[in-house]
Amino acid sequence: MNTAYTLITGATSGIGLALAHEFAQRGDALLLVARRAGALAETAASLRARHGVEVLERVCDLADAAAVTALVGGIERDGLHIAKLINNAGFATAGAFVDQSWHSERDLLMVNVLSLAQLCHAIGRQMAAVGSGHILNVSSITGFMPGPWMSNYAASKSYVLIFSESLREELGPLGVKVSVLCPGTTRSPFFAKAKIAIEKAAPDRLIMSPEEVARITVSAMDRNPAIIIPKFRNKLLATAPRLGPRWLLRKVVAALHKAVVAK
Ligand SMILES: NC(=O)c1ccc[n+]([C@@H]2O[C@H](COP(=O)([O-])OP(=O)(O)OC[C@H]3O[C@@H](n4cnc5c(N)ncnc54)[C@H](OP(=O)(O)O)[C@@H]3O)[C@@H](O)[C@H]2O)c1
Repeated sequence: MNTAYTLITGATSGIGLALAHEFAQRGDALLLVARRAGALAETAASLRARHGVEVLERVCDLADAAAVTALVGGIERDGLHIAKLINNAGFATAGAFVDQSWHSERDLLMVNVLSLAQLCHAIGRQMAAVGSGHILNVSSITGFMPGPWMSNYAASKSYVLIFSESLREELGPLGVKVSVLCPGTTRSPFFAKAKIAIEKAAPDRLIMSPEEVARITVSAMDRNPAIIIPKFRNKLLATAPRLGPRWLLRKVVAALHKAVVAK
């Protein structure tokens, strides 16, 4: 029997790294994808040493369409059996949309949306053909609401949420599970990369660790939920947008985000 791999994108830091440790602790063989070869090699070595599992590495810039196609082609060519697909890689830009470079906004759509869709397409097909598998796509609480000053990021996470819920209904009858993870504020390099001070994003006591998010997520996956929202307070945040009018929601989130992205 072929080895069954758990493929994790963005496994070199934050939530992806914590998920890799969580799955490895359960004995999963891993196929890790990220852009930085050095960080990927270090991550793989530490996972092998700590958990004694097989770890394959694939360096890939998910913002590069040709590289994503080559990644998918390589998996097919090597006949790798992916039992779990964890589409976690993602990043945000912060500030007025028209003030960002188009290059970074296009890269955001490539990484957060298009590469995720392409991996779901290629690997979802393989999973459907064998009648088993689990896809976990990483969205955000932000996916439940409009996000002025982080417009493209919020929209990308709404895409991931709606796409995953929809795909779940298509693939479920074929034996393939699809879940979507919507974390709240989680301490990781994500904020520094977006040039956001994390202490402005949420009070310290409300910020989760990537390890806690990963623990809750992997344990929840056993129950095959459609949407995983770690912690009750984040569930409330996801529900709140349905309670008031959309115009008010837009104004409130705009004010909150503006304060967070202000230099
Ligand atoms: N942190 C939060 O508060 C939070 C909240 C809700 C949702 N999320 C979501 O959770 C996911 C993980 O975020 P995080 O907080 O763990 O961020 P992070 O620590 O910055 O990790 C992002 C990961 O994605 C990889 N990545 C980024 N761009 C890539 C590219 N072009 N090609 C390949 N890999 C790329 C990075 O690896 P390399 O740099 O090595 O490529 C890294 O491993 C994201 O989808 C994010 O939107 C985060």
